[in-house]
Amino acid sequence: MRRKLVAGNWKMNGSADSIRGLLQGIREGAAAVAGVELAVFPPFVYLGLVEQQLSGTPIAWGTQNLSEHAAGAYTGEVAGPMLCDFHCAYVIVGHSERRTLYGESDQIVARKFAAARKAGLKPILCVGETLAEREQGVTEAVVERQLEAVLDLEGIGAFADAVIAYEPVWAIGTGRNATPQQAQDVHAFIRSKLADLDPTVASQTRILYGGSMKAANAAELLAMPDIDGGLVGGASLEAKEFLAIAKAGC
Ligand code: PGA
Repeated sequence: MRRKLVAGNWKMNGSADSIRGLLQGIREGAAAVAGVELAVFPPFVYLGLVEQQLSGTPIAWGTQNLSEHAAGAYTGEVAGPMLCDFHCAYVIVGHSERRTLYGESDQIVARKFAAARKAGLKPILCVGETLAEREQGVTEAVVERQLEAVLDLEGIGAFADAVIAYEPVWAIGTGRNATPQQAQDVHAFIRSKLADLDPTVASQTRILYGGSMKAANAAELLAMPDIDGGLVGGASLEAKEFLAIAKAGC
């Protein structure tokens, strides 16, 4: 049985004060949604604060990105082993904003996925098509290509404790979520691609949905058989809303 994971991608939002308040709210509400795993993804600079606030709680944390390198002359980058110093459990790789705004190719994303695993972190691999790609009918081809770059480098075994997030680009931050059936179709496709290689791994891999998920639409999305949680952006910045999404998955 796959335990649902509701992950809050804070993106480049928050301040020390607002994060203290947000985490207090999430901590207070966590026991009521214990059936679901919770994780938060702050900007790098708040990692120490998040660790301090969440140590000893059941809430996990991680970051939104990492370097593909383990150390060295890479100004401005942060390496996987550094994230381990802050006891991160997860790290998001290949978010569409990284792919689009920072030019991360499928190959770079695959190397970041490998770097995360090498450091002992669980990668959350984001995949998803743009609106133009959906309209051209190439959604499955795009997702398959993004997945294969990682499978080619790391193999199917790497997905035993990795997480995949299907995030249609047209649904991110737009208020327009995929319908439960649209999301389920792509999730089932992703799982079938994994199952072609290893049915046991495929049955274990958690596949999250991301893109305008909120309390009002979470229950119907999370009720779908292949949707194992959510990667939540905007709605994760308010404790009440984030917890309500988790509640919908309990
Ligand atoms: P959103 O973002 O929930 O604000 O659409 C999701 C994401 O980008 O991970």
